[in-house]
Amino acid sequence: MNQPVALSFTATDLDRLATASGLIALLAEGAAPASPAARRLDRLTRGMVARALASADWARLKTGESLTLAYPAGLVAEALMLVKLPRKASMLDARKAGAAIGRALGPAGAHVLAETHPQAAELSFGIAVRAYDFTPHKSGEPKTLGPVALACARPEAVAASAAPLAALSEGIFFTRDLVNEPANVLTTEDFAARLGAMQELGLEVEILEEPELKKLGMRALLGVGQGSESPSRVVVMQWKGGKADEAPLALIGKGVCFDTGGISIKPAAGMEEMTMDMGGAAVVAGVMRTLALRGAKANVVGLVGLVENMPDGRAQRPGDVVRSMKGDTIEVINTDAEGRLVLADVLWYAQERFKPTGMIDLATLTGAIIVALGHENTGVFSNDDGFCNAFLAAAGAEGEGAWRMPMGEGYDAKLKSRVADMVNSCGRDGGAITAAQFLRRFVKDGMPWIHLDIAGTALLKSDSTLAPKGATGWGVMALNRLIRDRYERKG
Ligand code: BES
Ligand code: MN
Ligand code: ZN
Repeated sequence: MNQPVALSFTATDLDRLATASGLIALLAEGAAPASPAARRLDRLTRGMVARALASADWARLKTGESLTLAYPAGLVAEALMLVKLPRKASMLDARKAGAAIGRALGPAGAHVLAETHPQAAELSFGIAVRAYDFTPHKSGEPKTLGPVALACARPEAVAASAAPLAALSEGIFFTRDLVNEPANVLTTEDFAARLGAMQELGLEVEILEEPELKKLGMRALLGVGQGSESPSRVVVMQWKGGKADEAPLALIGKGVCFDTGGISIKPAAGMEEMTMDMGGAAVVAGVMRTLALRGAKANVVGLVGLVENMPDGRAQRPGDVVRSMKGDTIEVINTDAEGRLVLADVLWYAQERFKPTGMIDLATLTGAIIVALGHENTGVFSNDDGFCNAFLAAAGAEGEGAWRMPMGEGYDAKLKSRVADMVNSCGRDGGAITAAQFLRRFVKDGMPWIHLDIAGTALLKSDSTLAPKGATGWGVMALNRLIRDRYERKG
């Protein structure tokens, strides 16, 4: 899959600057070369650095942005990149600067001169996450990225603080790979197998197959998958890094490997995008991977419902009534409102089996959330202000857009059905909210719960700061931080 960048942390070696190949990236602050490395580079290039830093182009740049001098005189390096960064850069500034380097990284690698910057670990994280590329289906020689040598003060200390960030970037890559993978490759069974392979990392992984799901009464979930040749699966991933008797936090993900809409079939234009309809499950998987890789001291269980929504002779029909695991019946008005049917059963199962301290579900649930918030923010719904604010703070600290949406009885009332306990779809108005209200009916009283509608943020059609176009991995960073700050025992 993704080829991670080989990073090493070193002290600055001024004597190597002339002969270093690849890219040299210098983090510079003012309008003149200030650091020893900057002055050395200026001398070697006969003043190119000083002229660049004094230019109007440089003055116009914002923090984290860069200017690149191609084939600089006096250097073997093919490019000299000047990245604008104040000495007191924030964590997000450092990541953004790293991302500029990660985007420019080529087969020859890079020398990054960051000796005056305390945020070198965050810089390395930015390089790694932005250097990501999804290439398994491109013919020809796979593109390789050369090694990155990051020159910084106290390299051992920086390497130590970069270790948990490397676990985080690996989780993000796992999520992105899953979301980018087409549906003929990432079938429900293939997805489950990739999660099963995470046993090696110390996660306990169970794959529940259809007979077991039937026994459990998950007929809402099974109804969605019954028109597909790929069997439905629920995968349970347990990370037990906390105290033995402590109830876990539960993360629940929508894993619709492809969403044709079913009998309520979607229009052809853009349907190929529905390979990303398992994005919620992919984020849950990426977070679990990160927790295992960094040995998180918390109990967290990840549960994903893996199905494919296809039209077929056996497919669910509009008008069908299904009984959920909870026992409530659902009139399926629209087979394209399938995600909530999957989540209803997985949410209920999570509560019955694990009695979690809280639940967070992630789903590419509605087009309506894109109408409301575009691609900048995930829609956040919750029944618990304290829990919700903690999540919003974590997302804010990581620079992941998240915006709370309203809920209420008036919206819930729209779910009334003539023949069953509720409908699965009730028109376009407030569509993201009525979807959330539907989920809320499967959350027990007093259970703190957050629903994240990531339909607009899981995959982007253009590059973002930390990702090339395609899967973003939105939410892995925020959830990792929330778990670190709110659930892990210290020491
Ligand atoms: N997977 C879609 C939502 C979606 C849309 C995700 C665009 C990503 C991008 C979901 O299953 C769906 O089809 N929702 C319907 C619900 C409607 C039928 C009530 C929608 O949003 O149109
Ligand atoms: Mn759908
Ligand atoms: Zn869907």
